[in-house]
Amino acid sequence: ANGVLLDQLGRPLRDLRISVTDRCNFRCTYCMPRDKFGREHAFLPREALLSFEEITRIARVFTGQGVRKIRLTGGEPLLRKHLDRLIAMLAEIPDLELTLTTNGALLARHAANLKATGLHRVTVSLDALDDAIFRRMSDAECGVGEVLAGIDAAQAAGLPVKVNMVVRRGVNDQEILPLVRHFRGSGHTLRFIEYMDVGSSNGWRMDDVLTAREILARIHAEYPLEAIGRDVPGDVAERWRYVDGGGEIGVIASVTQAFCHDCSRMRLSPEGKLFTCLFASSGHDLRALLREGRDDAALAGWIGGVWHERGDRYSELRGTASAPAQKIEMSYIGG
Ligand code: GTP
Ligand code: 5AD
Ligand code: SF4
Ligand code: SF4
Repeated sequence: ANGVLLDQLGRPLRDLRISVTDRCNFRCTYCMPRDKFGREHAFLPREALLSFEEITRIARVFTGQGVRKIRLTGGEPLLRKHLDRLIAMLAEIPDLELTLTTNGALLARHAANLKATGLHRVTVSLDALDDAIFRRMSDAECGVGEVLAGIDAAQAAGLPVKVNMVVRRGVNDQEILPLVRHFRGSGHTLRFIEYMDVGSSNGWRMDDVLTAREILARIHAEYPLEAIGRDVPGDVAERWRYVDGGGEIGVIASVTQAFCHDCSRMRLSPEGKLFTCLFASSGHDLRALLREGRDDAALAGWIGGVWHERGDRYSELRGTASAPAQKIEMSYIGG
């Protein structure tokens, strides 16, 4: 049929998140703890990675299947050599929003070029404004100053900016209000993310989660907020605006208010495996088909089949017996 492609729960395929590398220059304790991602850690070898030609070809096939937004992630996507070339190639695909999630350390260096090659907007992770707390969480060489400089460079280049804060109770929750004050009125959208049980390295416990409700209450007490809902049903963030006109924020409550019912995202790993959920235990090997020389129609049919079979709703099942135990790492699949 030529109707919209739907999965087992009636959800359309709209977004593709492409992880371009499993490497990162940070060692966030909740994502790549240094004791598990040390010097001996075996990252993917270069030849395992999809080439830019392969990624672009896959992206085109996906847009034919309904995808309208592509986000590049990692690891840290700016560590992939010549990423601007990939952006330029993807930017030629019509009707596609092209965006990137980065830790910001290398953004000041790359922002102008990313914009020039066709990136539409950027999302920067920043978990604290206080340098000591930031360094404790990111376990990186880089400090808050470099990330803020990256955000400024993106703005100067004309890239709209969102800022992501992963909130961990008792670790960085005291940084919510400082970040609110810093970004209010800046035009950048600050988003608060409930800490998730991704991967198998971070030793997540529900006690570590500061819920979206609690986050909003703390902000609302100082700067009254009103809800503006979601942009598009499949979006992860719920939007709120400061009543006084200071702009807007977002909350991503994937733990306490799961949004699986509208999840329209497919994920592509650096080595070309497709994952139908952030919490999937295994992927579907698209690279093998590509390197066997299948044509676009065959790839499209196969991708459609993978999506059609999909019934994932991990965040809604979390903690129940039907939830998978073994999960892929966030640094491999990019959030
Ligand atoms: P825009 O709304 O387009 O700006 O992007 P985004 O929020 O979809 O992407 P971003 O990379 O900024 O991710 C924000 C947070 O949402 C991260 O913590 C992601 O891991 C999380 N996230 C994104 N997609 C999903 C999803 O499908 N399921 C769950 N559980 N979390 C997701
Ligand atoms: N829970 C929630 N968000 C996370 N991120 C990384 N690990 C987690 C986690 N355990 C965020 C990153 C980045 C986005 C892609 O996902 O900080 O902003
Ligand atoms: Fe931190 Fe993102 Fe790197 Fe993970 S991929 S270690 S969350 S910067
Ligand atoms: Fe989508 Fe899986 Fe996230 Fe639910 S948990 S929103 S199905 S990626």
